[in-house]
Amino acid sequence: MAAIRGLIRLFPDKLVQGNLPRVASFFVAEAGGKVIGCCALQIYSKRMAEVRSLAVHPDYQDAGVATKLVKRCTERARERGIREVFAVTSATEFFERLGFNTFRREKTAMFFDVSV
Ligand SMILES: CC(C)(COP(=O)(O)OP(=O)(O)OC[C@H]1O[C@@H](n2cnc3c(N)ncnc32)[C@H](O)[C@@H]1OP(=O)(O)O)[C@@H](O)C(=O)NCCC(=O)NCCS
Repeated sequence: MAAIRGLIRLFPDKLVQGNLPRVASFFVAEAGGKVIGCCALQIYSKRMAEVRSLAVHPDYQDAGVATKLVKRCTERARERGIREVFAVTSATEFFERLGFNTFRREKTAMFFDVSV
């Protein structure tokens, strides 16, 4: 988890830093004995899960690492019988290429910030 945190800290503007998913939710990519990529599948219910905390170290980007990590997450969701996996992200094109789309290809997910 320390290595995962270190990776996520590299991207303070892009990734939520607090309240990370528990370690068992993560898949990691390793190179040279170091964690160079991470991605979590946070399961909320039998039906719904979120891909969270996706990060790849800058030295290892553009080599397909994130693609593999997200695919492992969607595979895990399928194995568990989960029907919908979502991502809250600014990297929409990246996720679109992996088959993510607007909800049921027509609706938009909207959020209400209860803390405000
Ligand atoms: C986004 C990120 C995880 C991609 O990791 P990666 O291992 O380089 O991704 P892959 O090699 O599997 O795919 C690379 C492709 O994604 C594209 N991509 C990378 N960041 C992107 C972004 N912010 N928006 C859209 N596309 C993006 C690249 O341009 C590349 O496209 P190409 O194949 O046409 O060259 C990595 O850039 C990263 O850690 N960024 C900082 C944290 C972040 O933004 N996380 C995602 C928020 S949920």
